[in-house]
Amino acid sequence: MLMSNVTYEAKGISKKFGQRTIIDNLNYKFISGNIYAILGESGSGKTTLLNILGLLDNNFKGELNIDSETIDKRCDNFALRNEKIGFVFQSYYLIDYLSVEDNIKAPLAYSKRKLDSEYYNYLIKKLNLDQIINEKVNYLSGGEKQRVSLARALINKPQIIICDEPTGNLDSRNADQVLSILRQFLSADKIIIIVTHDKNVAHKCDRILELQEGKLHENI
Ligand SMILES: Nc1ncnc2c1ncn2[C@@H]1O[C@H](COP(=O)(O)OP(=O)(O)O)[C@@H](O)[C@H]1O
Ligand SMILES: [Mg+2]
Repeated sequence: MLMSNVTYEAKGISKKFGQRTIIDNLNYKFISGNIYAILGESGSGKTTLLNILGLLDNNFKGELNIDSETIDKRCDNFALRNEKIGFVFQSYYLIDYLSVEDNIKAPLAYSKRKLDSEYYNYLIKKLNLDQIINEKVNYLSGGEKQRVSLARALINKPQIIICDEPTGNLDSRNADQVLSILRQFLSADKIIIIVTHDKNVAHKCDRILELQEGKLHENI
């Protein structure tokens, strides 16, 4: 299968909360085939930026283009988000009363895609979830929830994967697994963006960016 490059471009993105400018005329073009790490101090706006890139917040100035198509900010973009974007939230946002399995498979309910059983089995094994697959998620530890959340983000094989501190609650072995699964998932047509505090995680990415004063700087 021939896979073509995809670009995801943020053009002149600004976001304020009240009088405070959090994102300030930010320009950056993400190119597929890369895992990007975004570092930045607590409160620098990393989650705010990911919510914009993840099409979860359309209340901002500027423009987002996937390839050369501009995303319409006037609508919710539910279908586009579900098809193109996998999101791992800092605070998981799993459905507490459902099992691990049903949480992971939830995005398929809104998708045209069918379950790829082999891929599903691979994900749960790789993320060490096979022992707890029938448990309700409200009893799980933070690290377990984080891994369920990653499996859910990947189940639809999205083109753009956005992870907010995906290893924040993991020991180093499980953190390595998360990185390795993302690396294996990466292909020429995929973009992975990871916000992290962990320099070890950042150094396993292809590009390291820093969010500072509302802008992304390439950290070479
Ligand atoms: N909904 C909101 N309303 C008002 N202020 C907010 C809101 N969300 C975030 N902020 C503020 O914006 C700043 C950036 O927050 P955030 O993006 O969560 O930072 P980070 O993820 O880098 O720690 C913080 O000062 C935070 O308090
Ligand atoms: Mg945050």
